[in-house]
Amino acid sequence: MKKLILLSACFLFCVVSLSHAEQVPGFQTEPYLQNLTHGSAAIMWHSEKPAYGWIEYGKTDMFGEKADMVVDGLRNANVTLHKIRLTELEPGSIYYYRACFKPITKFMPYNVVFDDVVYSKTYTFKTIPTDSHQISCAIFNDLHNNYAMFDSLCAALEGMDYQFSIFNGDCFSDPQSEKDVIEALNIFNDGVSAYSQPPIFIRGNHETRGAFARNLKKSFDFPGDEFYFAITAGPVRFIFLDCGEDKTDDHKEYSGLTDFTGYRERQQKWLKAEVKSNAFRDAKYRILVHHIPLYNHNNRGISKFSRALWASVLDEAPIDIAINGHTHRYGFIPVNADGNNYAALIGGGSKNGTVMLLSASDEKLTIEVLNTSGEIVDRYVKLENEEFKVVH
Ligand SMILES: [Fe+2]
Repeated sequence: MKKLILLSACFLFCVVSLSHAEQVPGFQTEPYLQNLTHGSAAIMWHSEKPAYGWIEYGKTDMFGEKADMVVDGLRNANVTLHKIRLTELEPGSIYYYRACFKPITKFMPYNVVFDDVVYSKTYTFKTIPTDSHQISCAIFNDLHNNYAMFDSLCAALEGMDYQFSIFNGDCFSDPQSEKDVIEALNIFNDGVSAYSQPPIFIRGNHETRGAFARNLKKSFDFPGDEFYFAITAGPVRFIFLDCGEDKTDDHKEYSGLTDFTGYRERQQKWLKAEVKSNAFRDAKYRILVHHIPLYNHNNRGISKFSRALWASVLDEAPIDIAINGHTHRYGFIPVNADGNNYAALIGGGSKNGTVMLLSASDEKLTIEVLNTSGEIVDRYVKLENEEFKVVH
């Protein structure tokens, strides 16, 4: 068994090394995982030319299975953004895959002409085990396309084990075009090995701005196709919320084109159901993740609109901690510091960034906050029936 684990580790390391090599020609982004569950995974990529794409996958590097996307009876084709969902996978199993596509050089009725098939490198991923009691994830926020800082934060994580990553808003800053999104995706995906470990990209207020904001979601895959959702990973129930913009809908900056009030009300309704669900109640820990804090010392930089709608629901729910960003000032908000029933941890900003490494087991929940020099700024631990506290 030990030998097998070593072999897998070696294989994964080899793939990690390959990911920094030249991108396969024809791909605008290498494949990246989204929405990984016990029995399914979405694999996405962008091709340079319009194409028909599919995934070859299986338990060995010989693959054996093939999946594509069918919409209304038509195989998805003549597109540059590809999203293929693999289903009926076995929990806790390693799968090999490669993304494949045939560029389409001519698309006429009864006459479609394809170019040669393009294949990605071979990658692996592991579906979530059903009996997992231990997870780790890396959490970034407010990168604001500061790629040099992102590289430093990834270097700080080097050698640390995590299964997925969360980008907690304002990482795709004011997207104006698909080109902007693809540029950021390539860098973020590479930094967190997204071909193997799914990144979760949620919105901050800056993802809602810019000419391409209304198309941004197409590059991702979420449970329920919403930017707000919940997932269970090991002993943790993660609840992701979307605070929207940081000013009122009638503010002149938004030109009358937002209705975040209605959007937050929809989330309130969803949240009421979520905190009553078995998945929420049965979890060992419940962690809120949203970009703009609901609580901060002196109410600095909070979303008072979201707080007005959600606090009454969250106050009645046993939340362990909220993970936030937005203020560009790293800080810990202990219980009751601002009328809050649960602690909050706010990540740093685009010049003084931090990354959090969250690890959960049945015994404890730990969050280490690292800076761009690779130093652990603070370490927080929560033991059963105790509050979060800093451990030196
Ligand atoms: Fe923000």
